[in-house]
Amino acid sequence: MILHPSGLFNNHAKSYKRISAFPLASAMGAEIRGVSLSSLDDEQFLEIEDALHRHKMIYFRNQDTSLADQENFTLRFGAFGVDAYTPGTAGHPNVQKVVKEADTRVKMIFGSGWHTDSPFLPRPPAISILFGVDIPPFGGDTMWANSQLAYEFLSETMKKIIAPLRVHMSARNVLRTIQEINSSPEASKLGSMNLSMEDQRGMIEGSFHPLVRTHPATGAKALFVDYTYASGIQGMTEAEARPLLDFLVNHITQPAFTCRLRWEKHTLAVWDNRSCLHQAFNDHDGYRREMYRTTVLGEAPF
Ligand code: SIN
Repeated sequence: MILHPSGLFNNHAKSYKRISAFPLASAMGAEIRGVSLSSLDDEQFLEIEDALHRHKMIYFRNQDTSLADQENFTLRFGAFGVDAYTPGTAGHPNVQKVVKEADTRVKMIFGSGWHTDSPFLPRPPAISILFGVDIPPFGGDTMWANSQLAYEFLSETMKKIIAPLRVHMSARNVLRTIQEINSSPEASKLGSMNLSMEDQRGMIEGSFHPLVRTHPATGAKALFVDYTYASGIQGMTEAEARPLLDFLVNHITQPAFTCRLRWEKHTLAVWDNRSCLHQAFNDHDGYRREMYRTTVLGEAPF
C-alpha cells in the first residue's frame, strides 16, 4: 500500500537552547546548525542526541572535522562498534575509509541496497557516522527510510502477527557479490575487503534478532528487517518467510517514509540503525567519492 502523509508524520523540529534543527523531509531527517563538532560541549551533545532520537538521521554542514574529532564525537555516544568489512584507516583503526575512485566500475559499492549496518552481528552498530571529504558533482547521495514510522503504519493485526518473530540476518548475499568483485580487475579499487574464511563463516551464520525491536532510549518499536541481510524467519520455510520479508521491506522503503541527503564536502551525517534503513548509490562513475565512517556499538536487539 502506498501511503501519503497523515497525522502520524511528526518530523517537526523541537526548540533547543544550544542547537537549531531544520527538518529535511516529512518522514525523517534534519539538519543541525549552530555547532562545531570539533569543539562540542556536553549541553550541545545532549541536544544533538535528542535530535537524533527524534529525526533518526541528522546532518551537519561545513564541519572542520579531523579523524580524531570524528572519533571523539563517536565516543560520546558509546564505545566503537565492530566493522565486519574493513580494517580501518592507518592510525585510526575504528575509522573506515569508504572510497570509490573516479575510474572504478563495479556492480556493487559499499552500502548499496537498503540495509541496516551489520545486523548479522550479535550486537549490531547502534549508530553510524559518515563524513564527506570528496563528493561527486552529482550522484553519491544517501537515502534513509524510517522503520519506526513504518511500524506505526501497520495494522494492529499485522503487528500481532510479527510481534513474536525472529529474523535471520546473514551476509551470505553480500559476501557472494564481494567474491565476484574480488576476482575482477577492479578489486583493488574498492578498498580492503579481504575477509578470513572464519570471519566469513560467522557473517554467513549471522544472528537471529527480533523482527520488531524496541529502542533502548525511547521505548519506540521499529521494524528490524532489510533488503540486504534479512534472509529468513526462525521456524518458517523460505516460501513462507520470503513474501512477508518482501512486504515489510517494500513497506518501510516506500517514498513517503524516506529522506535523501545531497552530500557536500565536509558534511557529517549521523543515523540510528535501530530506527531506520539506508542505502548508498552506485551512480557516480567518473567522479570520486571519499567518506570516513565510524560506528557505535549497539545492544543485542530486544
Ligand atoms: C553505509 O552504508 O554505511 C555507507 C553509506 C554511504 O556511503 O552513503
